[in-house]
Amino acid sequence: MIMIKNLHVMVDEKEVLKGVSLTIPDNQVHCLFGPNGSGKSVLISTIIGYPEYEVTEGEIIFNGTNITQMSIDERVKMGIGISEQRPPVIKGVKLRNLLNLLTASNNEEDYKNKMVTQFNMEKFLDRNINDGLSGGEVKKSELFLLLTTQPDFIILDEPDSGVDPEHLKKIGAMINESLQKKIRLNKNCTSCSGNSGLIATHSTAILNYINTDKGHIMLDGKIKCSGNPLAMMDKIRDKGYEYCIQCHENSQEDET
Ligand SMILES: Nc1ncnc2c1ncn2[C@@H]1O[C@H](COP(=O)(O)OP(=O)(O)OP(=O)(O)O)[C@@H](O)[C@H]1O
Ligand SMILES: [Mg+2]
Repeated sequence: MIMIKNLHVMVDEKEVLKGVSLTIPDNQVHCLFGPNGSGKSVLISTIIGYPEYEVTEGEIIFNGTNITQMSIDERVKMGIGISEQRPPVIKGVKLRNLLNLLTASNNEEDYKNKMVTQFNMEKFLDRNINDGLSGGEVKKSELFLLLTTQPDFIILDEPDSGVDPEHLKKIGAMINESLQKKIRLNKNCTSCSGNSGLIATHSTAILNYINTDKGHIMLDGKIKCSGNPLAMMDKIRDKGYEYCIQCHENSQEDET
């Protein structure tokens, strides 16, 4: 589904991504781990195409198309959707208006209403987007908008931060369901694949509810190590991120 090749990205005249390569095939969900400031959100922002993140080298291929120079708009229309780490407050725009705009073309009124109920969003529909919402409510609102638009490739930047355990369980189940969307939409299909995803997180809490295939550790703008996501998180908790440098060096020695 997505192939990122040797991506170098400058932000504010500083190189933040220093050669990221990452492939997420159809029907797989990968996790992105790494200490604060290692470049996870910059990678996510670059995949969706925020203009302040300048790609100086490398490319992003999505479903066979080179999207590196495409606008955010075009990328979203191709099926990429993100839930931001810190979604903005948008004063003067009601959640209901944005929701109607985002779902205007898909004729899935029932699905939209089901999502409003599942996410318990009725009370927020006539409020300005994220204005005065608690930290957890903001994350829920952002995920609600994302999943209601049914992207094929779902990118979640710390979807679990600030969300209480009860909501986390619900949100996790809904993310998982959304990743199985094609199966849900075509119940008679026996060999349909689901969607793909990338989840940046610092904890395993959300991973208890979502089936994930692979984890990657990012350190100083590079992916240094990949493996089983839950096992990696255990190691990070025990030994810290530095263990990964060791593992990376060992695997390089093995290759020589
Ligand atoms: N718009 C920006 N202007 C200047 N520097 C930026 C900008 N965006 C990101 N950076 C810098 O890029 C580096 C990587 O930031 P990024 O947000 O990707 O970290 P992260 O891995 O997501 O960390 P966290 O786990 O805290 O979310 C940091 O040093 C950050 O200050
Ligand atoms: Mg981040």
